[in-house]
Amino acid sequence: MRIKVIVIGSNGLLGQTLVNKLYKHSKYQLYAMASGENRNSKVAALNYFEIAITDFKSIKLQLNLIKPDFIINALAMTNVDACEVEQTQCDVVNVSFVEQLARISFELGTHLIHVSTDFIFDGVDGMYRENDTPNPINYYGLSKLKSEKVIQKILIKYTILRTILVYGKVANMKSRNIVLWVKESLENKTLIRIVNDQFRMPTYAGSIADACVLAMEKQATGVYHISGNEYLSIYDLAVQIADFYNLPKELIQSIATSELSQKALRPPKTGFDLTKAIDELGFKPLNFAEGLAQFQNDL
Ligand SMILES: NC(=O)c1ccc[n+]([C@@H]2O[C@H](COP(=O)([O-])OP(=O)(O)OC[C@H]3O[C@@H](n4cnc5c(N)ncnc54)[C@H](OP(=O)(O)O)[C@@H]3O)[C@@H](O)[C@H]2O)c1
Repeated sequence: MRIKVIVIGSNGLLGQTLVNKLYKHSKYQLYAMASGENRNSKVAALNYFEIAITDFKSIKLQLNLIKPDFIINALAMTNVDACEVEQTQCDVVNVSFVEQLARISFELGTHLIHVSTDFIFDGVDGMYRENDTPNPINYYGLSKLKSEKVIQKILIKYTILRTILVYGKVANMKSRNIVLWVKESLENKTLIRIVNDQFRMPTYAGSIADACVLAMEKQATGVYHISGNEYLSIYDLAVQIADFYNLPKELIQSIATSELSQKALRPPKTGFDLTKAIDELGFKPLNFAEGLAQFQNDL
């Protein structure tokens, strides 16, 4: 019997990356749900369901029919500044919807895999381990922390994969990511201002998709930190992108975060200790150059 997996939020960066990976595995019977039409034309034969998250009754009906072994939730409000301004909507998408997914997962005995973020931490003292104390400094981070808590309250069969600054390329993208943005800006000879005082471990979207597959294979439960293994300032990251594509790095202006007037605060130094994911899941983190090479393949 094939393992039934449903990817929710299948039109986003991680969602499409997962679909692209999973549909090739014969052992998985793949389903997908997202709002609007299926944007991934590569997987035309996908069992795709268009959903409205406010109509959970219909979603529940479908999930009851499918009875998935795994639900992977890649759906979230990911624009950090928009979350700060539209807190009610952020709660609807990032918390209430996740709570409903956790409840139906409990009823069906389904294993829920959910993706969270380094932004649950304050970024004062980076290289976080799974058990470090969260202290979000913006609403997005708070909402994702709340999503973790509702899952942990309702379920035993869950995996929470926290990740950092995800980059990749999929079809018909609505949101951009750092690598695409820097590459496209420099190609267009646009001057860009990049912060030199925020440090991250950038993550290739394929790596977090791999971690979802590993979590299913191992039936791993609990929280795991998943990211690339290179700790860089966002400025240094942009310079590496310029070097990789042989683009003019003199167009990258190094600035402090305080020079940007963003609605939401950003944690200065995040970064993960990846030991648990490497030891327990067999996760193989990429350095940034390796991630860029994979990204280039996707283009
Ligand atoms: N990207 C990062 O740097 C990063 C870092 C850490 C953690 N994460 C986490 O990783 C997960 C996947 O994110 P991603 O990078 O794949 O982001 P993404 O490309 O923005 O994907 C999120 C998906 O959620 C959908 N969505 C948002 N609000 C919705 C609503 N009200 N109704 C229906 N669908 C809605 C979006 O739909 P549309 O495409 O139609 O807008 C989008 O397809 C999220 O849980 C995120 O919190 C991401």
